[in-house]
Amino acid sequence: MKFEGHTDKDSADGASDGAGHLTRRAIFQSGAALAGAHTPLMAHAQATPTAAPVAAEPPPQRMQVQLQINGQPHRLEVDTRTSLLDALRENLHMTGSKKGCDHGQCGACTVLIEGRRTNACLTLAVMHDGQSVTTIEGLAQGDTLHPIQQAFLDHDGFQCGYCTPGQICSAAGMLAEVKLGMPSHVTRDLAAGAVTLTEAEIRERMSGNLCRCSAYPNIVAAIKDVSGARS
Ligand code: FES
Ligand code: FES
Repeated sequence: MKFEGHTDKDSADGASDGAGHLTRRAIFQSGAALAGAHTPLMAHAQATPTAAPVAAEPPPQRMQVQLQINGQPHRLEVDTRTSLLDALRENLHMTGSKKGCDHGQCGACTVLIEGRRTNACLTLAVMHDGQSVTTIEGLAQGDTLHPIQQAFLDHDGFQCGYCTPGQICSAAGMLAEVKLGMPSHVTRDLAAGAVTLTEAEIRERMSGNLCRCSAYPNIVAAIKDVSGARS
C-alpha cells in the first residue's frame, strides 16, 4: 500500500519499506503522536466536577406515644415516621396485624381505631396518641372467639390465613358501620337510613381486603352468618 505524499525520505528514515508500504514503526509513531495530541482534551473531560454541597439530613425526631391497645395502656417512644403497623409489630411485638403491601392496597394490616377500621400501614403511630386500638389479638374474650372468628372457622373462610386478621377486623368494623346506617357505593336507597346487608353490600364493603387464596365466597358466607342477613 502506498500513501499519497510518500517521499523517498520516508524510506531513508524507516517510515516505509522501500516498496511504498508503511512500516510498523511508522504506524506506532503516528499513533503515539495522535494519543499525545488528545491527552490535554481527555484530561479536561475526565476532570472531576466540583461536588455540590449536600445538606445534612436532620436527625430523626422521636416522640412519646400513649396507646390503649386491646384495653391495655402502652407507652412507647417512636421515631415520628413510624407507622402504626410498625409500632404494633416491631415496637410492641404484636404480630397479629399483617404487613402485606405496606401501601394501603391489601387490607392485611386492618385494625380498629376508636372502633373505625383503618389500614395501620397508612397512618403514623404518633397521630393516635391517647386513642384506643383494637387488633386481632383483642377480639376474643379469653377462650371465647369473637363471633366473626368463629364464623370464619365454621365457613372455612381462610386458606393460608395471611389476610385473615385484616379480614376479621375489617368485618367487625364494617358490621358496626352498617348498624349506624352508613351507606356504601352500592346502597340503593340512601334515604332509607337502614342498610340491608346483601351479598353485594358485603362484597363492596369488604373490597379493601384482598385474599391471595381467593377465599371470598366463604368469607362472605361467614359475614352473612354473623350479620343474620340473607341476600
Ligand atoms: S399492609 Fe396495609 S394495606 Fe397492605
Ligand atoms: S387466606 Fe390466604 S391470603 Fe387470604
